[in-house]
Amino acid sequence: MTDSLSIRDNRTGRDYEIAITDGTIRAADLKQIALDGEPGLATYDPGFVNTASCRSAITYIDGDAGVLEYRGYPIEQLAESSSYLEVAYLLLNGELPTSDELAGWTHEVTHHTFLHENLKQFIQGFRYDAHPMGMLMASVSALSTYYPDAREIADPENRRLQITRLVAKMPTLGAFAYRHGQGKPYVYPDNDLSYTANFLAMLFKMSEQKYNADERLIKALEVLFILHADHEQNCSTNAVRSVGSSQVDPYSAVAAGIGALYGPLHGGANEAVLKMLRRIGTVGEFIEGVKAGKEKLMGFGHRVYKNYDPRATIIKKACDDVFAVTGVNPLLKIAMELEKIALEDEYFISRKLYPNVDFYSGLIYEALQFPPEMFTVLFAIPRTSGWLAQWQELLMDKDQKIARPKQIYTGARTRDFIPIEKR
Ligand SMILES: CC(C)(COP(=O)(O)OP(=O)(O)OC[C@H]1O[C@@H](n2cnc3c(N)ncnc32)[C@H](O)[C@@H]1OP(=O)(O)O)[C@@H](O)C(=O)NCCC(=O)NCCS
Repeated sequence: MTDSLSIRDNRTGRDYEIAITDGTIRAADLKQIALDGEPGLATYDPGFVNTASCRSAITYIDGDAGVLEYRGYPIEQLAESSSYLEVAYLLLNGELPTSDELAGWTHEVTHHTFLHENLKQFIQGFRYDAHPMGMLMASVSALSTYYPDAREIADPENRRLQITRLVAKMPTLGAFAYRHGQGKPYVYPDNDLSYTANFLAMLFKMSEQKYNADERLIKALEVLFILHADHEQNCSTNAVRSVGSSQVDPYSAVAAGIGALYGPLHGGANEAVLKMLRRIGTVGEFIEGVKAGKEKLMGFGHRVYKNYDPRATIIKKACDDVFAVTGVNPLLKIAMELEKIALEDEYFISRKLYPNVDFYSGLIYEALQFPPEMFTVLFAIPRTSGWLAQWQELLMDKDQKIARPKQIYTGARTRDFIPIEKR
């Protein structure tokens, strides 16, 4: 077997041999297939449906088998046995940390959680009803003005410092945005607490001297953060890489990722699941409506997973822990009934539609009393480590260039300007 592709261009009768590497051909190799005097052949792939944009050693997904691995470690094992900061270290550095390395990383992150006071005023400047994702995007972007040295992206030490700052400050920014919406005073970070415990304290602390969240809630949030830490080349990661390819600072690149995640097709599905569950009367009737094409069963189906999304299985388990503290969310019963019926129904089986990560996560967030606008913020905070791991990999990759897709031009050509009085 030869690892190549033989192509005959029927326009010219010429034959070409294109190398196949890693199950792909290089789009640039197609350029040689050309009519005389014309530009060479290109591919047309809106939405990157079948185009690899990079080589990556961070996250592996097998959608048919329902497999998700970070740096080769199955998501189930990471969710069961590690902490979010341990997973962030793994994504960023390629290997699990030793206890000393984890202690060092945790110390560094913990000591970068505070924001410049001016940034607090910046956040206070938003309207009372500003969407927390808009606030998060703007304040991450503003961070680049506080750390102009972040432009030194070729310096590994400098990159490490900015990565630490971003991972550390995201929960603070997210919590401030939340408190702003509630009209409550912002709560400063508590360096005695773990990453997730501190986040919960910054969100919910009132007049008590010390806020200690229930251990089960801390663990559940830790699991949710681990599940959302990376998901290879999705829309927001592609945005971070694309903007990062211009060699801008990491704050600006991550702000672009937050913008992409803000969109309802990406980060907003769990909110849609909740709205759907709230208005369902009879489950059987609702499913019939979905099958008749009247609407979608939100939280079901995925572009990549054609099997049970492994993250959905883990979240379902986390539901039990959260509801043991908060009381059962009455919508859970409807969700479970929907899932049971759908998994036995030919319509869903034949289309390989299974619950995805968003089917249960919204229920947990609601039980924790987050307003729906905060759901995507809870996604953006842990995804920051994945975005930055991908950004760093991009910078190290000699194959990468500034992202600049081709187009197929469909407009008019070379026309003479018409003076306005003659139009
Ligand atoms: C995620 C999603 C956009 C993937 O879309 P996709 O890979 O482009 O799949 P398609 O839209 O081509 O769907 C294939 C078939 O399944 C059906 N289908 C897909 N998701 C469905 C859903 N949630 N409910 C009912 N039918 C669904 C489509 O109507 C289509 O049916 P058809 O072949 O009879 O036309 C889609 O499944 C969806 O909209 N799900 C609900 C939203 C959601 O939960 N998003 C979060 C993703 S993490």
